[in-house]
Amino acid sequence: MKIFNDLTRPLRTGLGLTRPQIAMSPVKRRIWKWFTGSHPLVFSTDLYPQETELLLKTFTAANPTTYLEIGVFWCGTFKKVLQARDAANLKTRCIALDVWDEVLDATVNTHVSGWPNRKIVGCALEKNGLGNFELLAGLSSQAGDLIHDKIDFVFHDANHTYAAVKEDLELLHPLMSDGAMMLVHNAGKEYEPDKTYFKTDGGPYLAVMDLVKLGKWKLETFEYRLAVLKRLS
Ligand SMILES: C[S@@+](CC[C@H](N)C(=O)[O-])C[C@H]1O[C@@H](n2cnc3c(N)ncnc32)[C@H](O)[C@@H]1O
Repeated sequence: MKIFNDLTRPLRTGLGLTRPQIAMSPVKRRIWKWFTGSHPLVFSTDLYPQETELLLKTFTAANPTTYLEIGVFWCGTFKKVLQARDAANLKTRCIALDVWDEVLDATVNTHVSGWPNRKIVGCALEKNGLGNFELLAGLSSQAGDLIHDKIDFVFHDANHTYAAVKEDLELLHPLMSDGAMMLVHNAGKEYEPDKTYFKTDGGPYLAVMDLVKLGKWKLETFEYRLAVLKRLS
């Protein structure tokens, strides 16, 4: 048990997975899916509660017309955003963009814990009484082809290399409205996996800092692993 605990600690602390979720083999997951039409990771998230709180507080205060989460995994955070939107009676158009298990290209992805399924997530959100959301399939770099309205609020939590975050934020800048908010996850140096991303190639931390220096984004605040940026024109 101690060996299992030690081996799975990075997944449990890094991704917020429970021991049963990790212990479940791919075969057991398939059986679970067949019986329940669901998946054991549905609505799991690796965000710390404080990070979720900051995201929801910033979202509600901004009251955006269009919210885009890029990199949604099993929609643990997206579900909370929909709930916060409905609780505050906001009319925000909420869009979740991920590669899901549909666009598999290992070269564009630092994510290592399996692929979410769009249909399962959509059904699970509806079963929880949530509606009025869009689940889009594609790469972060395709956001401009998929979304034609100006975006007022982005939560970026997709590919965490330096190059990918820098490219995504540069591509998103013209798609966003003046004063729009951009929250970037894993953009720190202090906690894992940010420490590893930073050591590898500078990661989201350096990408965010370099972009802030270029003057197109203002760093509003930073908590745990979440950078809160405001778009400057
Ligand atoms: C860390 S998870 C997202 C966690 C989620 N935001 C949450 O709060 O629970 C990263 C997700 O990004 C997706 N992803 C990785 N690279 C991507 C890319 N280039 N474009 C779109 N999605 C990507 C992966 O499929 C994965 O579901």
